[in-house]
Amino acid sequence: MQIYTFKTDRELDEAGAGIVISLLRSVPGASLGLATGQTPVGVYEELVKAYRKGHISFKKVNTYNLDEYRGVGKKDPRSFYAFMHQHLFQHIDLPEEQIHIPDGEAEDVILECNRYDALLGNVRQLDLQILGIGLNGHIGFNEPNFRLSYGTHAVILSEETRRVNSSFFHSLEEVPEQAITMGVGAIMKAKKILFIARGEKKAEIVHRALTGPITTECPASLLQLHPDVIVLLDEGAGKLI
Ligand code: GLP
Repeated sequence: MQIYTFKTDRELDEAGAGIVISLLRSVPGASLGLATGQTPVGVYEELVKAYRKGHISFKKVNTYNLDEYRGVGKKDPRSFYAFMHQHLFQHIDLPEEQIHIPDGEAEDVILECNRYDALLGNVRQLDLQILGIGLNGHIGFNEPNFRLSYGTHAVILSEETRRVNSSFFHSLEEVPEQAITMGVGAIMKAKKILFIARGEKKAEIVHRALTGPITTECPASLLQLHPDVIVLLDEGAGKLI
């Protein structure tokens, strides 16, 4: 695990984008695992800048998002699809059919999870998975539990996660109670993981995840078992490391 701490958001964003850019230069048809949340937004902005300067193209790239809320359609501004569209997809040359994200509106959730796993199975291994961390140590929406799931599955979100994510909604009541998430299997199978955390409020959980016991009660602690993780932290999130 390589851990880097940055003084400014800009340096962190450039470093994160730099990793994606060098991947796309050497593997133009890379498969990218993408995350939502505030954490990767600056990295996406840097990628858009690089694309606009003609430094990279996403024409051959396939993207696989970690998760989606249940009961929220692609066109709903609260969906993770809309979030990705706003921050990345609409600005780049990534063909729509190469964007993959669980369908939050699927009537049969088990079928939808199987469909997503089949897609991920075809890829076998994501070239790079971008990952943030929830305040409770979740990755994707793999919440702390006595056991974790390997494959894509439906989850009931914890009260804490819904409260944290309510900043994207008008009120806590509006935050969906369930989501579909990639399991820890696909995440851990990625060739490389780009793990990013910002802010002092994440310092304790980052410390637990990177140096504490490996436990399903802190899903991000599984990253200690991965052979190629790059950790990018700002000074706040890296305070205890
Ligand atoms: C959500 C997402 C995670 C993300 C986490 C942290 O719950 N499912 O993938 O890492 O939030 O979000 P933020 O980056 O806004 O702190």
